Amino acid sequence: MSHLAALGGVPIRTEPYPTWPVWDERDIKAVTRTVQSGRWGGSPYPGPNTAAFAEKFAELQGGGTAVPMMNGTITMEVALRAAGIGWGDEVIVPAYTFQATAAAPMAAGAIPVIVDINPDTLCADPVAVEAAITPKTKAVIVVHLAAQVTDMDAITAIAKKHNLIVIEDAAHAHGAQWRGQGVGLWGDFGSFSLQSAKSLTTGEGGVLLCRDPHMAQRAASIIDCGRPKDPAGLEFTMGQNYRWSELHAALGLVALERFPEQFAERAAMADYLEEGLSKIPGVTLLKRDLRQTRRSLYRYVFKIDQDFFGVRHEAFCRALSAEGIPVDTGYPVMSRYDLFQPYISHLAVPSAFPEYFQFDQMSFPVTEQAAEATSVWMGESIFRSGRKGIDDLVAGVRKLVDHRDELGQIQPESDQRM
Ligand SMILES: Cc1ncc(COP(=O)(O)O)c(C=O)c1O
Repeated sequence: MSHLAALGGVPIRTEPYPTWPVWDERDIKAVTRTVQSGRWGGSPYPGPNTAAFAEKFAELQGGGTAVPMMNGTITMEVALRAAGIGWGDEVIVPAYTFQATAAAPMAAGAIPVIVDINPDTLCADPVAVEAAITPKTKAVIVVHLAAQVTDMDAITAIAKKHNLIVIEDAAHAHGAQWRGQGVGLWGDFGSFSLQSAKSLTTGEGGVLLCRDPHMAQRAASIIDCGRPKDPAGLEFTMGQNYRWSELHAALGLVALERFPEQFAERAAMADYLEEGLSKIPGVTLLKRDLRQTRRSLYRYVFKIDQDFFGVRHEAFCRALSAEGIPVDTGYPVMSRYDLFQPYISHLAVPSAFPEYFQFDQMSFPVTEQAAEATSVWMGESIFRSGRKGIDDLVAGVRKLVDHRDELGQIQPESDQRM
């Protein structure tokens, strides 16, 4: 009989990893107080919980004006609209990210222009970003992906040279810092998601961090049906109701209280994990850029050597998951996403914009390699499972190394889609 659990062997770990989100009496009390207050909704915006959360969130990142709203997709759409970006404009986005990063510019009426990533960090490659700039380019959205931070020195220099707005999609990066300054404050806007899986969560929610207070006023107006937020009360915007509820904000205030300890625990455990993983043949850790002074652990990625293991990452992930260590292959290449379907948008009339939407002819070699062969993704709960949880993960990977000749027998499922 095979040794691998995926082929009938005994798994390394049977105990599940911790669930998320965590909660205690503080959440119940905060929600109860808000229910009893009768102030459940977000109007007039911001309500007291939302305003308190905004202030504390900006403190966590180290500055700016935070505008909480419904989710971490709307945040990017609102940022673009606040900056006056829309119809006919081009917005550069990386090929390796969740669909929201490209869907948000489309919702604002802009065209996402997809670029490849850097192989060491899996974040947008600044060289590819600069090469994609045309006279229509108005903004770039970079994504701080899976515990990495995009090279913000290079991106901000390019943006300055070409007069571009920079949005940092920091849905994975609450609390992360680049050269001692919080992410979301390097660009013009930082976009944070508070959706259930995120390392700071309220179930649903998003925060747009704005460097310029006037942009924050415009963003707050756009999410509050266009009502003016400038001191004179004169600046109306084309708005909708994207307000956040006070019940979510109540949970957010408690989540912020817990966050520093959780952040530190995850970071310490990630260091411990890397001590173990770095000694395993066939495994490569993503490069740690010393300019990234604090890393945030939401999703964590390492790479496998296809030749060494004799399989691509699907078989590896299936084998490791069967050992009781939940891992997956992560995002597909943006141009191949089932959820990202520009052809169903009125933006994507292929005859009008042939150059933008010929996805089958696009090629992003670095992203393809990561998304279709080498990346192994895991969730933050592993970093809350103590040393035993990490030791099990490392033991699981070692087991796959020792029995790599069996991995070829694992049939890959059809490509994972998100
Ligand atoms: C990189 C990235 N950007 C944007 C989002 C969108 O956030 P939300 O689900 O809050 O809309 C997510 C997560 O869901 C994400 O992972």
